[in-house]
Amino acid sequence: MRIDIVTIFPEIAEGPLGASIIGRAVEAGHVQIRCVDLRDFTTDRHRQVDDLPYGGGPGMVMKPEPFFAAVASLKTEGAKVILMTPQGKPFRQSMAAELSREEHLIFLCGHYEGVDHRVVEALVEEEISIGDYVLTNGTLAAAVVVDAVVRLLPGVLGDERSAEVESFSGDGKRLEAPHYTRPAEYAGMAVPEVLLSGNHGAIERWRESEGLERTRKNRPDLLGEG
Ligand code: ADE
Repeated sequence: MRIDIVTIFPEIAEGPLGASIIGRAVEAGHVQIRCVDLRDFTTDRHRQVDDLPYGGGPGMVMKPEPFFAAVASLKTEGAKVILMTPQGKPFRQSMAAELSREEHLIFLCGHYEGVDHRVVEALVEEEISIGDYVLTNGTLAAAVVVDAVVRLLPGVLGDERSAEVESFSGDGKRLEAPHYTRPAEYAGMAVPEVLLSGNHGAIERWRESEGLERTRKNRPDLLGEG
């Protein structure tokens, strides 16, 4: 897979995507990730990427030309162009799974008040939001989406099962059960007996009921009990 992140702050994405599992996935050749400086696609002396909003209002709007030039330069036949914006569709595990089957993803990252809407109309196939809050910049949001997508690529996770049994995979309606490791007792707190029992049926039932309990407590919306 090839991924391009177009941003005025490439360093925001380079850090998180160069470390740990994603960094190793890049080194192993499972994915090629490039953080591209939008200012490299400006043509004026000041490398200006923003301007005042038509109709007035606070803040600046990102100009269309650098985005059009960047996409023209990066686009391949199978490329999917995505804009990171709080106005986008909520990002979900199911979306990560769909994106992991694409050949080439191009992420456009906004800054300031927003991006000239002609970019969305002419270039963008999908607008994605990582949650109902506003970041200073879409680059961190793109890094979040790229992390969630790349870990699903074949060969990236050591233990393939860990992507299958986790929260939000499958029907996406249950959180995972709690996990424990050694020691069996710590500071007076014991690991639940059933996990030490070796009884796989009982362990499976315990995990289901604990997962459900956690979902009720933290995410009742997933159960339609919001
Ligand atoms: N840019 C600013 N806030 C964002 C969000 N919540 N999701 C995606 N892009 C953003």
